[in-house]
Amino acid sequence: MRVDIISIFPEYFAPLDVSLIGKARRKGLLDIRVHQLRDWTHDVHRTVDDTPYGGGPGMVMKPEPWSEAIDTVIGSAETPPRLIVPTPSGRPFTQEVALEYAKEPWLLFAPARYEGIDARVMAEYGARLRLDEVSIGDYVLAGGEAAVLVMVEAVGRLLPGVLGNAESVADDSFAPGAMASLLEGPVYTKPPVWRGHEVPPILLSGNHAAIARWRRDEALRRTAARRPELVAGLARKGLDKRDLEVLDDASFRFMPEDMAD
Ligand code: ADE
Repeated sequence: MRVDIISIFPEYFAPLDVSLIGKARRKGLLDIRVHQLRDWTHDVHRTVDDTPYGGGPGMVMKPEPWSEAIDTVIGSAETPPRLIVPTPSGRPFTQEVALEYAKEPWLLFAPARYEGIDARVMAEYGARLRLDEVSIGDYVLAGGEAAVLVMVEAVGRLLPGVLGNAESVADDSFAPGAMASLLEGPVYTKPPVWRGHEVPPILLSGNHAAIARWRRDEALRRTAARRPELVAGLARKGLDKRDLEVLDDASFRFMPEDMAD
């Protein structure tokens, strides 16, 4: 997969040289190119922002450097990239979106600083290519760069060959499939007793079916406690008798509308 990032802080993306994503780049699985937006300015101050029309606090990113940068990166490509603009006013970035992006051959990220990018840039490129304005959560960052790091890591680990055999994306929290929409439960390693805390004995039993059931119980309990709205969404997909017992024991109560199809 090719990933281009245009930013006024190219140095912000140094973490993409490290660990899993760094390794994927060195293996040639991920081709990440970071560009300095100011390279597409033409004044001595390399200005990328200006005051907002209509007044108000802060500055707005000028359209010209962005359009020149995006046009240069895209060049004369027959199949242009998907353009992703991080913004707190975007659609939520979820595991489902990460899986969708992981299927793309080319992503172009345009993280903004200040109050955002002049909206005409989105109007222009929204008409020319697939454009998503996405938010990584209901909080406001100082700029889109950290959001790009989050998205590149979430997408990059899904690419074929990036995770080793030992790891798997199949039972991630939020992964589609059997454990869909359940949070992952607790995990343990050696020693079997640490500061008086024991590893749950079932995990040492060698009984794989019982371990799988225990893990599901724990996932249900944790999800009921931390994300009850996810459990409400599960009802339709069919929960077995034991699931319902565990949820009842965890004091989770379904609303009548959760049970409808
Ligand atoms: N830029 C600032 N806050 C953001 C957020 N929550 N998600 C994406 N981009 C952002």
